Amino acid sequence: MSLPLKAVPRAPGGIPLLGHAVKLGRRPLQFLRSLSEVGDLVRVDLGTMPLYVVTSAELVRDVTVTQARAFEKGRLYDRVRPLVGNGLATAGGDVHRRHRRLIQPMFHQTRIADYAQIMSDRAVALAESWTPGRRIAVEQVMGELAIDILAETMFSTDIGRPAVGAVRRDLPVILKNMLLRAASPKLLDRLPIPPNRAFDAAAQSMRQVIDDVIAGTRRSGQTDQADLLSVLLAARDADTGEALTDEEVRDELVTILFAGTETTASTLSWALHEIARHPEVEKQLVAEVDEIVGSRPVTIEDVPRLTGIRRVLDEVIRLHGVTLLMRRTTEEVELGGFTIPAGKEVGFSLYALHRDPALYADPDRFDPDRWLPERRAHIPREAFVPFGSGNRRCIGDAFAWTEATIVLATLLARWQLRPVPGHTPREAASAMAHPDHVPMEVAPRAPADRP
Ligand code: HEM
Repeated sequence: MSLPLKAVPRAPGGIPLLGHAVKLGRRPLQFLRSLSEVGDLVRVDLGTMPLYVVTSAELVRDVTVTQARAFEKGRLYDRVRPLVGNGLATAGGDVHRRHRRLIQPMFHQTRIADYAQIMSDRAVALAESWTPGRRIAVEQVMGELAIDILAETMFSTDIGRPAVGAVRRDLPVILKNMLLRAASPKLLDRLPIPPNRAFDAAAQSMRQVIDDVIAGTRRSGQTDQADLLSVLLAARDADTGEALTDEEVRDELVTILFAGTETTASTLSWALHEIARHPEVEKQLVAEVDEIVGSRPVTIEDVPRLTGIRRVLDEVIRLHGVTLLMRRTTEEVELGGFTIPAGKEVGFSLYALHRDPALYADPDRFDPDRWLPERRAHIPREAFVPFGSGNRRCIGDAFAWTEATIVLATLLARWQLRPVPGHTPREAASAMAHPDHVPMEVAPRAPADRP
């Protein structure tokens, strides 16, 4: 028999009015991880709003796949909607289904092959811009690279150039202030404090430039390029023949910029950090790149063959994944033996799930070999969902993996990155558990590194 909502165990340490907001604000990752000790379904109070957090792989699957029909996107997405509009990540119901169908071809394997050329060119340009002994802030460099790659795959024409510039300038400002904005009450948006002003100005500027580029591209008739903008402008609904409006195209571009840059940049930064800390892993990867790629640029055909890099990426994304995702019930559902009425906020942390000791032996240890085929076979499918699952699963997973593989292979072939002593990167929670700062020094790869 199913138990009522009020029987759901509450996380310890809540305080009147603020609930668990202080704990979540101070040490979000540790707090989210601690919840599985309380139960498979745990009540957390965000101020006065209860959030029902599912902590087991089975219940995450229930919410995202088995019972997905009973859920819509929740409060977190309501708060970012003013910025990204009704793009794929925030839209629900029929709008989501229609847009997902229209956008899917942008991420088809043949398209990814086109984008791979841009990824490879940008990675080579970055590698060639370094000089021996140069110190770099890896998280910053990877952030800029991810933005450049995505902006170039979106806007390939001269008309699109201003948009590439605007994204490069404005997106970092928006990303920096985004979590604060999403987590704080709406009331605070209007306070004339510097983070709000910077955020609003950057958001306004980026949207305006993208709007101008969409209008200019339509006017010029240059809608047959191989870039994302052209694909969106040319997309037609298979049933109705309807196209996306200019506003819908802009919302999708902005959504993809948000969803696809910090995520990929964080994964790449952690990967470079972990590789530098594990010389035996580094050696294997350099040998793999040497054998498969040699000294030429990395191509799309190389990507599936670079299996050692893939294992490192899988392990990095397991350790440093998406912090917190949310849904809202649209009807009464039964979850883990409890009845949840319609209109309740439900959350889950992929970060916490992927570090659950019940699912992974020695969960905090970086061990890419756990993804060797014979060991991987013992990890249940629902226990590793770095891109989510069900109908809201990440549409950019192949894009992200292709980009990360090409960038790592390109850099590893030419440079050895060594940590600069004095700072150990720490996890900071925003959309991902991203590294706060990764200072490294680059050294040319010595022939002795090669087997
Ligand atoms: C390592 C990199 C990435 C990770 C870990 C990641 C993770 C995720 C996750 C977990 C979701 C599901 C969110 C939910 O269930 O509420 C998602 C959705 C999404 N992602 Fe990614 N992502 C990455 C890269 C990208 C890239 C490169 C793009 C685009 C180029 C992208 C575009 C999107 C979009 C548009 C959605 C919304 C899909 C929908 O609701 O139908 N992501 N991502």
